[in-house]
Amino acid sequence: MFITFEGLDGAGKSTQIGRLKARLEAAGRTMVSTREPGGTPVGDSLRHILLNSEAEAVAPKTEALLYAASRAQLVAQVIEPALTAGKDVICDRYVDASLAYQGQGLELGEQGVAAINQFATGGLRADITFLFDVTVATSRERVENSRIGQPLDRIEQRDNAYFHRVRDEFLRLAKLEPDRIVVLDASNHPDDLEEEIWHHVEKRLPVNKII
Ligand code: TMP
Repeated sequence: MFITFEGLDGAGKSTQIGRLKARLEAAGRTMVSTREPGGTPVGDSLRHILLNSEAEAVAPKTEALLYAASRAQLVAQVIEPALTAGKDVICDRYVDASLAYQGQGLELGEQGVAAINQFATGGLRADITFLFDVTVATSRERVENSRIGQPLDRIEQRDNAYFHRVRDEFLRLAKLEPDRIVVLDASNHPDDLEEEIWHHVEKRLPVNKII
């Protein structure tokens, strides 16, 4: 199973990724957990460029291509080999992030961003995606509180209008693909979110694989 987590920063994805990984392992599944951009040596170098460069140094199309390049490397080096070996993969962000942050956030449009990602991934899609929905105000507040004494990264420095476009696009994508994308209210208690996520994952597990 290929599971992805999406949403604005500060929505609590990381906590839930850890919990889901533990539960899948307890159910006898072998897991690989990774993240974007990054997850490979090439991807980590691209992550550094994407998040640490001066704001004006990366043009919007370059940004979309670099995220897609990191993704292509991750699919080839980590995700596909793991799935082929029968492991489950959890990925913190995937193609939906580029459609939201670059396609709509940077106003590059859906078509071009979808096309480069189709090329990058060979069309590999997540089986299930958890969208952590949080308001822009809450996301900004949590990010700023977590960065005390540290500068915001290149994406985090963008204005509220940008993050409203990103959130709206995530929600639009979820409406288009309700069977794949599960929208979670990220303001719910972490224990409740864990149960909700597990409910969706468990019903997709092959019965004979559950211990
Ligand atoms: P994170 O690892 O803290 O989630 O940081 C990754 C940042 O990169 C986050 O602000 C979202 C952004 N991002 C994009 O803009 N496009 C993408 O395709 C991905 C994967 C992430």
